[in-house]
Amino acid sequence: LKLGVLISGRGSNLQSLMNAAAAPDFPATVALVLSNKADAAGLERARSAGIPALALPHKDYADKPAFEQAMTRALEDAGVQLVCLAGFMRLLSPWFVDHWRDRLINIHPSLLPAFPGIDTHQRALDAGVRFHGCTVHYVRSEVDSGPIVAQAAVPVQSDDTADTLSARVLAAEHELYPLAVRLIAEGRVTVEGDRAVLACPLP
Ligand code: GRF
Repeated sequence: LKLGVLISGRGSNLQSLMNAAAAPDFPATVALVLSNKADAAGLERARSAGIPALALPHKDYADKPAFEQAMTRALEDAGVQLVCLAGFMRLLSPWFVDHWRDRLINIHPSLLPAFPGIDTHQRALDAGVRFHGCTVHYVRSEVDSGPIVAQAAVPVQSDDTADTLSARVLAAEHELYPLAVRLIAEGRVTVEGDRAVLACPLP
């Protein structure tokens, strides 16, 4: 399965996908990396792995439709079959979400549907939850919603700060995103309405 990865910054989840895809038995390859920021560190990570990486600064486009059409054209030219959002910080329009429906996934740093949006780690601490985590889900128009493919939970410790908690969640993200992509690439995930159904139990 050919992946297109959309980033805006650091790209550590992109790195985890590239690392996984480097294994000969992994059922997906990263065909293209796109960033809406020219200085995203993830672009360099992709280029040093020999993966095509393009900056499409959203500010260079007249409006959101023009920006999203440019991204779609680049993804389709590269033969991308599954778009993976990995720290991509632009809201996507219903047009883009519909165009890529059930071929567009995101990783979010919380156990959705808890804590959609930003600052999830501080909000989890403020809420006093004992577990936090991350979710890979198919993208729907409403922010951080859509059929859930996979989740990983991490414990919240009493002395956690947003930084220590986010580091623990990030380590889980780096395991979870390649796992979710593998499940999809192996055809083990089907979307049925608002839910993603797994064809067989997780390993
Ligand atoms: C991750 O926490 C991801 O869950 C969220 O944005 C962050 C991106 O980090 N959507 P990175 O760029 O992958 O390092």
